Amino acid sequence: MTTQASQLPSSFSKDLLSLGEISSSEFRSLLDLAEVLRAEHQQRKFLHQVSGSTLAVLFEKPSTRTRVSFEVGMFELGGHAIILDSKELQASRGETPEDTARALSVFCSAIAARVFSHETLERYAAASSVPVINALSDLYHPCQTLADFQTIKQYKRKLKGLKIAWIGDGNNVCNSFLIGASLSGSNVTVACPEKYAPLPQAIEIANHQSEFSGSKIEIIDSASEAATDADVVVTDTFVSMGQDSEKQARAQDFLPEYQVNEELMARAKPSAIFMHCLPAHRGEEVTASVLDGPQSVVWQEAENRLHSQKSLLYTLLKRPRSSKQKMFMP
Ligand code: CP
Ligand code: NVA
Repeated sequence: MTTQASQLPSSFSKDLLSLGEISSSEFRSLLDLAEVLRAEHQQRKFLHQVSGSTLAVLFEKPSTRTRVSFEVGMFELGGHAIILDSKELQASRGETPEDTARALSVFCSAIAARVFSHETLERYAAASSVPVINALSDLYHPCQTLADFQTIKQYKRKLKGLKIAWIGDGNNVCNSFLIGASLSGSNVTVACPEKYAPLPQAIEIANHQSEFSGSKIEIIDSASEAATDADVVVTDTFVSMGQDSEKQARAQDFLPEYQVNEELMARAKPSAIFMHCLPAHRGEEVTASVLDGPQSVVWQEAENRLHSQKSLLYTLLKRPRSSKQKMFMP
């Protein structure tokens, strides 16, 4: 008897830190609800509500899309978001992540945090009595992945069996993307220089899920091979936040082979779409002609951050409170 992907055990009971916590059926449900919420947004009819809920959104690093999509998302869900700059919190004066998480749990229904070190998120999650959502860490960016697969499905009408090329740095966005691909049954070839390969733990989670979903995850060094006949071509910056001192070395390691330009896109299917989580650096990881060209879906991808995060928030906030969440109650 074969085990169905939907039968995989899931620990998505409280937090979303990597995407490794969720099963393929939960992933599908989040994407399906995101599409319903996209339609509600278009019609300005916000039927899904979490009124009375407050989300704390904490930033150790800059953000445009994540910050605004969480704030607008909570508004459209009938709740409230508090945007917090970590430099203005007591954390900047030494309060521990555990105490910060406990304090936020007292007031808020969920916490989203963008942090330098993934370990900080794990400490928030362990101490928090409310859901903790990774709004980007050095290792993962699961909210981006939800939007990315919503976008791919929107344009390709399916996920299973698609051929996706990830070109460039095997970074935080790539790590979550691989897990998302393996949850959806699509195939990803990552083309990167060997020392910029994705996180082994992310590959392991993706490979495990792939046994059930039938995905194929490959890591190679040839960008042109990865792009050949691809349905989707994806890239991200060569220099993630926190890596600015490596800017020159990275430019040398990635250019010219790992730039997504018209020549590379010509290897993909004529119907291929180009994706980038943004912010983009024209002339570095992607040329302006591709980023601003007809195959680029990056602005819809950015918009889908709103819908997919609302789907996530609605799903988490509408769940019955677990015993852990009652931990501090008399
Ligand atoms: N893609 C993304 O997370 O964008 P921001 O850094 O602007 O939030
Ligand atoms: N990999 C990039 C993503 C930015 C949204 C970074 O971590 O800076």
